[in-house]
Amino acid sequence: MMETDFRNANIVVLTGAGISAASGLSTFRDQGGLWEKYPVEDIASPEGYQRDPELVESFYNARRAQLDASNVAPNAAHFALAKLEQEHQGRLLLVTQNVDDLHERAGSNQVLHMHGELRKACCPVTMQPFFMEQPFSAENVCQCCEKPQRLRPNIVWFGEMPIGMGEIEQALTECDLFISIGTSGTVYPAAGFIRLAKAFGAEAIDINLEPSYSSPFNIFMQGCATQQVPRMVESILSGEPIESTAEEALI
Ligand code: OAD
Repeated sequence: MMETDFRNANIVVLTGAGISAASGLSTFRDQGGLWEKYPVEDIASPEGYQRDPELVESFYNARRAQLDASNVAPNAAHFALAKLEQEHQGRLLLVTQNVDDLHERAGSNQVLHMHGELRKACCPVTMQPFFMEQPFSAENVCQCCEKPQRLRPNIVWFGEMPIGMGEIEQALTECDLFISIGTSGTVYPAAGFIRLAKAFGAEAIDINLEPSYSSPFNIFMQGCATQQVPRMVESILSGEPIESTAEEALI
């Protein structure tokens, strides 16, 4: 049990694919996940894109189309984090590894998409991002370069630097509470955020269906994000203690 009253706390939240699993979007590494179906080096690397831009574009076009599917919508966990943004008295930084737009559709206004955004394209030279309505194709070129460049998905691929790292690291060193939701903790630098936050004195909560990925978390709430995130948000907003649901799962 965590007795601390977090009503005025400085909070950093990190979300991963697990928060969107109940919204109809596949995770990457669970059974049947995206990286089981598609070779990651072909789809999510600059080299793969250079080899076969059409293949990469078709993968991201399909994922963009999925966002508009009738069964894809924000769930109770996304809505709870939007409520936290609106009602929390202290500072809050919501960082997501997700490239979907479900946090925004739930009402979160300040979302740092460290791995990019499906709805956006960017110039491969200047990396300038902007919203793009139409599907990716060779016809979409940038207007920022003298020789117009074929626009690429605004996705951070393996080997590339995530977005906003300066702001995120600063926030992690200053926060009182770090919350990780629905991530397997296998992809760095995001997987290392817990250790940085702990090294600078933060308390930490992990929410996941499966056992926690890291030992320094003080609280582990095992279960579906749709149930655990609203519960946790209510505790933070009311200043109530936060309880582990599966303390034995903490290593
Ligand atoms: P993963 O697919 O690696 O992990 C998803 C996590 O969510 C797992 O730990 C699951 O146990 C958990 N999970 C699944 N359903 C859940 C639910 N309903 N409630 C709570 N937890 C649930 O996804 P990420 O950790 O987000 O990067 O992956 C990190 C990065 O790897 C992604 O951003 C992506 C990928 O390669 C890029 O594309 C750059």
